Amino acid sequence: MLSHVVGDLRCPHGEPTLALTDGALACPVGHRFDLARQGYVNLLVGPAPAAADTAAMVAARERVQAAGHHDAITAGIVAAVRASAPEGVHGTVVDVGAGTGRHLAAVLEATDAPAGLAVDLSKYAARRAARAHERIGAVVADAWQDLPVRTGAAAAALVVFAPRDVGELHRILRPGGVLVFVSPTVRHLDPLVSALDLLRVPPSKDQALDDDLSGVAVRVARDTVEDVRHLTPDEVLSMVAMGPSAHHRDPDELTRSIGRLPSPLPVTVSVSVSTYRVAPAAGGRPPSA
Ligand SMILES: C[S@@+](CC[C@H](N)C(=O)[O-])C[C@H]1O[C@@H](n2cnc3c(N)ncnc32)[C@H](O)[C@@H]1O
Ligand SMILES: [Zn+2]
Repeated sequence: MLSHVVGDLRCPHGEPTLALTDGALACPVGHRFDLARQGYVNLLVGPAPAAADTAAMVAARERVQAAGHHDAITAGIVAAVRASAPEGVHGTVVDVGAGTGRHLAAVLEATDAPAGLAVDLSKYAARRAARAHERIGAVVADAWQDLPVRTGAAAAALVVFAPRDVGELHRILRPGGVLVFVSPTVRHLDPLVSALDLLRVPPSKDQALDDDLSGVAVRVARDTVEDVRHLTPDEVLSMVAMGPSAHHRDPDELTRSIGRLPSPLPVTVSVSVSTYRVAPAAGGRPPSA
């Protein structure tokens, strides 16, 4: 619920606080952001960029995740956060580009973190994430603009198949806070990408991540998580429909191509999970998320 995260939010016009009033978030100078009926709030200012997942993409992601096909990824994220905070997470976990909120909900359950803030450009994702866990508050915002999150509010941040603005992630994390990034390896979705001639998303290079984070945070772990899932034709269709190829394919032609594949089709899920820790406060206690 938004009440769990309202103290972590700031007004997107710059005022440092937002308060929950009757059906809205309001800042001290009077900017108001109405709560959507579905429990999220839209804090986007200016024109909405085009990158947000559509309703159909979010629904497809939901089906894929509900079938367990991303469970290994979720488990990898949970393991990364727990390893970096063995005594639990004592602050808000922010998930940037949170999608359905499924990974964030699992992290909250596993770590007893008091709150989770799901940030996504897509109102359909925010709508879904708002229902993913009682302690999740969901906001619509753009990861490429200043986040509507107070400086130092986050004990941990997650970026899973989503855009990363390292400067903003650093700003919102408290000293000693933890950052977990998940990105696909070259084996991700093998053999679907070649069999269906899907858009090839260049795998984000681990070295590029290290370079981006240098001087900001120290890498404390990196693991590859892999799973082979046996997908029905409908599940293959959902896998395609939740990704960037959704916009570029004629649905009938895609269904025919999928019909020519073996069923069930073994598909590899393969991601790299990297954990970084920002520097603890000078003279502070040893790092603890
Ligand atoms: C590939 S999905 C990943 C969703 C989720 N992290 C997961 O792994 O299930 C990428 C998500 O990032 C969101 N997104 C894309 N561009 C964004 C931006 N500039 N700011 C915030 N979210 C963005 C999309 O709407 C989508 O929900
Ligand atoms: Zn304001």
